[in-house]
Amino acid sequence: MIVCHCQSISDHDIRSAVDWMRASDPDTVITPGKIYHALGKRADCGGCMPLFLNTMRSNENFRVPGKGEMPVLRRHRLIAAE
Ligand code: FES
Repeated sequence: MIVCHCQSISDHDIRSAVDWMRASDPDTVITPGKIYHALGKRADCGGCMPLFLNTMRSNENFRVPGKGEMPVLRRHRLIAAE
């Protein structure tokens, strides 16, 4: 299945890149940018990001071994002091 239509990247390409990165460096943090780079491509419109991230995260090799869950990042509102 094609995940990124701009760059013709399939779910198989993403899973293979995650597997390769994890085998190359067990401690690396895998990001979409690193996957694009490993595939010799660059993101364009970004419309594929939700599916791209889900495909990355569903790979059993995505997480750094021995580390717990990644923290959920939340937006914080800055409240100006009055
Ligand atoms: S669909 Fe992936 S960058 Fe446009």
